[in-house]
Amino acid sequence: MSRKTPIISPSILAADFANIQSEVELLNRSEADWIHIDVMDGEFVPNISFGIPVCQAIQKHATKPLDVHLMIVKPERYVEDFAKAGAEIITIHYEACPHLHRNLQQIKALGCKTGVSLNPHTNIEVLADTIMDIDLVLLMSVNPGFGGQKFIEQTYAKTTRLRAMIDKVGATTMIEIDGGVNADNARPLIDAGADALVAGSFVFSSDDPVKTIAQLKSV
Ligand code: DX5
Ligand code: ZN
Repeated sequence: MSRKTPIISPSILAADFANIQSEVELLNRSEADWIHIDVMDGEFVPNISFGIPVCQAIQKHATKPLDVHLMIVKPERYVEDFAKAGAEIITIHYEACPHLHRNLQQIKALGCKTGVSLNPHTNIEVLADTIMDIDLVLLMSVNPGFGGQKFIEQTYAKTTRLRAMIDKVGATTMIEIDGGVNADNARPLIDAGADALVAGSFVFSSDDPVKTIAQLKSV
């Protein structure tokens, strides 16, 4: 079996916000595939990060697809703004969406890829009836709200179960893992069936983020 190369999506949340242009340029010249943008509203999660103007500022300099992760309530109010701000993938939280199916159609109609994120406690089965409409499932491997947390080991088994569920129905949905990703858990996650890995502090707290991204690409 050939070894699958992971898609790497460094999280800008861990970057230096005072130097956002140079941080984005660093990602442009790295082997990163996407740029992960963590939007937090202080309500769905207990933290506030940034919103649409910052996404627009990133778009101005980015040469890679923007992978936007909305940790906000009522995301339908803002998905159009994020699509206009350059989002290629828009991920919303299952836990924040009583009308998930409708929200997915809205994202599709904007021409974006649809993403749904599950908190660590949320069973994958809740996506069984919408999986064909989902381009990417983002499994949280920490409780959302903060960078730099410890990876939850249960994520390996959850990834395996989700991969089986996707393959069983013949969907093309990708699996992305978010939280506490590093060079030790990256390969086991890919082997369990993940396609893409978000990495924040592991990349930006390292001495050489470009090299760290290359390291994650080649695990
Ligand atoms: C957490 C965010 C993550 C975070 C990952 O709520 O969704 O994307 O930035 O950061 P690390 O890799 O430091 O856990
Ligand atoms: Zn995220």
